[in-house]
Amino acid sequence: MRTEPLGPQDPLAGRRILVGISGSIAAVKLPLVVSALAKRGAEVRCVLTPSAERLVSPVALASLSRQRCWLDADQWSHTAARPLHVELAEWAELVLLAPLSATSLGRWVHGLGDSLLASTLLATEAPVLAAAAMNTTMWASPGVLANWQQLQGFERVLPLGPAEGLLACDRQGTGRMAEPELLLLALDSLASWGWRRDWQGRRLLVTAGPTREWLDPARCISNPSTGRMGVLLAQAARLRGAEVQLLHGPLQVEPAWLEGLSCQRIDTGAELQQQLRQRQSGVEAIAMAAAVADHRPADPQADKLDKQALEAHLAAGWQMVPDLLQELVQQRPPGPRILGFAAHSGDVLPQAQAKFARKGCDLLFANPIDQAGTGFGAASNQGWLLGPGGAVEPIAPQPKLAVAHRLLSALVALLPPG
Ligand code: CTP
Repeated sequence: MRTEPLGPQDPLAGRRILVGISGSIAAVKLPLVVSALAKRGAEVRCVLTPSAERLVSPVALASLSRQRCWLDADQWSHTAARPLHVELAEWAELVLLAPLSATSLGRWVHGLGDSLLASTLLATEAPVLAAAAMNTTMWASPGVLANWQQLQGFERVLPLGPAEGLLACDRQGTGRMAEPELLLLALDSLASWGWRRDWQGRRLLVTAGPTREWLDPARCISNPSTGRMGVLLAQAARLRGAEVQLLHGPLQVEPAWLEGLSCQRIDTGAELQQQLRQRQSGVEAIAMAAAVADHRPADPQADKLDKQALEAHLAAGWQMVPDLLQELVQQRPPGPRILGFAAHSGDVLPQAQAKFARKGCDLLFANPIDQAGTGFGAASNQGWLLGPGGAVEPIAPQPKLAVAHRLLSALVALLPPG
């Protein structure tokens, strides 16, 4: 698992994070998460239920967190001045509850405190990221579903439902815990944005990554976009409750960041155009983060060209790819609210203001692509958010996820009340 530092503004650096682990086989993935958190400068303490103790080594967790690991046997000690569950509950700034088993979910939802982890959860006021994991049939059982449903209404809780896949019990279905890379992203989101689901029930379409235009099967024109900004925007919206469709070109992001999104791969501008036309009327908002390649060969070839033939075909010229953002805007009203993006070098703001006026979208986020550490592929971004009535909001350099949350807040504010 890659653990990229997010720079000086890492939302988890220096934070006190309590990791609660309960009895599901997905517990074996938690040492990686604990190690990543410690490397990013978080202070981590782990609490295990008795079932989790049998699945994952408390010694490994203590070593990776650089802290002793807390077990049920520690709860009642005559040497402790205050109850341990209260100490831990008040110490925590954030809680990661992963995996959340059917039993621990039931205890929590019904207010039972009959283990160290269960009583700590009842006693804490810290926001909790809760990632469920269990066998498919258990997950689909009426009692578990009712408990999960009830958890959605808890204050300060970000529930992360299980994904579909092959489970350790050899079943194919829903029940896998969110992958560690997604747990880290969701924790970043909890730390930088919070747990409120202001996009609940909203439908958002996001485009991300580059498009490619092919001259022949071996050669294409494209751009350095990795899709990171668009994918983070899509996942941030999903964590805020949105139903998100993602149209994406070739991506260079953690595959786990796509969990929970309805994804459709596209390659060329024409494919993106076709997908947008099919889907635009079914959503309330569109974020056009895709870096659409502007030109396509006038005469693309099905067979690979040799070098001489290539020269001739390059000279045959190029066509403009239609401006898809402008096409979306022209088809309104009625229609979705649209956030556009603009990548510029040099003096960004005047170019962005001209583009905003030309394209006619509701919001435009413009970012420089010639500054070290931000823009294409970087963990951070910066720029200006242009909005209705000539509003210009400077966005200081910060992790892309934080930028994504700022853009989502501006976009949701334009939607009619849900
Ligand atoms: N865009 C689009 N269709 C295109 C080109 C761009 O929909 N053929 C969208 C992008 O998804 C982005 C916005 O338009 O939301 C601006 O893209 P950008 O590459 O910055 O600008 P261009 O429109 O290509 O204009 P220029 O290259 O002249 O800056």
